[in-house]
Amino acid sequence: MMNTAEIAALNEELQEADPKQILKRCAELFKGNLAFASSLGFEDQLITHFIATEKLPIGIFTLDTGRLFPETYDLIEITNARYKINIRVMFPDAKDVEEMVNSKGVNLFYESVENRKLCCYIRKTKPLIRALEGLDAWVTGLRREQSVTRVNMQIVEWDAMHGLVKINPLLKWTAKEVEDFVRRENIPYHKLHDQGFPSIGCQPCTRAVKPGEDIRSGRWWWELPEQKECGLHKE
Ligand code: ADX
Ligand code: SF4
Repeated sequence: MMNTAEIAALNEELQEADPKQILKRCAELFKGNLAFASSLGFEDQLITHFIATEKLPIGIFTLDTGRLFPETYDLIEITNARYKINIRVMFPDAKDVEEMVNSKGVNLFYESVENRKLCCYIRKTKPLIRALEGLDAWVTGLRREQSVTRVNMQIVEWDAMHGLVKINPLLKWTAKEVEDFVRRENIPYHKLHDQGFPSIGCQPCTRAVKPGEDIRSGRWWWELPEQKECGLHKE
């Protein structure tokens, strides 16, 4: 396990590196004891492309909340077939979900921020904790310009919430850079990106945005921007 100084040094070393170099270096350093969390969005498909084409020892998993868009499930299959990989699908605890929906309703998230956070905790955060068990590091597709909640992030940082290193290879990229790369390399991508969805999460909590609108304004649109983290990246 790395200490604070080692994490800072690695972060420093990787400041000018491109995403592929960051992934290669971390795969080598963490000796395969790291995994990538993919939500199948543009950013994640780019990272999956690098992991698969470079044959990096980084396991790829996705958190299936049970409320994803049909197009997301289709893309899991398309991506697995294209790259001959097997994205690991993590599912929430059945008992947790049953208790929650039977006491608070199937669409509880619209009622209050508290309910929404409970649903995200049960359907995403708890399965994420299980997926990260025993690992030294995890990789995400987070970008700095995505949200007010993400401006202070680093390429390599200590994830105090989960107790392991977090690696964000696309941190400095813009949405346009990511999208252009995906299209240029013919990387399979989520169909909803072409229908006004720049950021895709669960079906009941994501809607299309108009051109020029904030890219995350379609996520939990009934909440304030500073509340919009689901517990994967902030409490
Ligand atoms: S969220 O916290 O608002 O849902 P966002 O959709 O911006 O996150 O995605 C940021 C990163 O979090 C993704 O690039 C991915 O690494 C991780 N992530 C988000 N949702 C999932 C998911 N369902 N399964 C796995 N990883 C996810
Ligand atoms: Fe539940 Fe919505 Fe969070 Fe998905 S995004 S886990 S449906 S509250």
